Amino acid sequence: MDAREMKIKAAAAALEHVEDGMKLGIGTGSTADEFVRLLAEKVAGGMRVEGVPTSERTARLCLELGITLRSLDELPELDLTIDGADELDARLTLIKGGGGALLREKIVACASKKMIVIADETKQVEMLGAFPLPIEVNPFGQTATRIAIERAAHRLGLSGELKLRSSGQDLFHTDGGHLIIDASFGRIPDAEALSAELAAIPGVVEHGLFINIASLAIIAGPAGARTLKPL
Ligand code: A5P
Repeated sequence: MDAREMKIKAAAAALEHVEDGMKLGIGTGSTADEFVRLLAEKVAGGMRVEGVPTSERTARLCLELGITLRSLDELPELDLTIDGADELDARLTLIKGGGGALLREKIVACASKKMIVIADETKQVEMLGAFPLPIEVNPFGQTATRIAIERAAHRLGLSGELKLRSSGQDLFHTDGGHLIIDASFGRIPDAEALSAELAAIPGVVEHGLFINIASLAIIAGPAGARTLKPL
């Protein structure tokens, strides 16, 4: 089974949690895209859902496939969000933001009664941090913010390259017009402590650690999809 097939398996299993009439947060990334495609088939078959997309990219795909969209201000309380992840551990702490949508993803997930993470088994790790942590920063004073991140990491015994994300020749800008610093810490033994340090830096808009947000994960491997609850 290739990576795409595993993503489809996880997405299909998540679709079983979607009920007619639900208000849905819809994630971003290649796994979330598979979910959108399967959801669109259900919608074409008569299922009624209203979706709040976590990115402009997801909004475009949903509209193309006929899924009704609303803004989060129109639907500020959602039943369920389904989204991918770059890494997850046994407590269902996540690293997200590989696709640059972490801010909207976190806002939407936190406005939902439940968040289900869908991923192939390569995303499951014992300790977070091999995937560089995306940190969304305000363009104003981004060098000062990077230095503050470096110092905060140092206080926690973390180090590694902090790289401003680019897109071709240009800097990458999020849907909100911010920049992303990808922090290659290698290992993040205490996600709560790092989250608190980063949140205290004024230029940090949001970071990709999702702590106590996911209520369920559906992990697909060659043998099929399994469901994980936080430890
Ligand atoms: C988007 O910003 C991310 O948080 C994605 O959810 C994450 O990168 C997973 O993407 P894939 O499903 O493409 O691996």
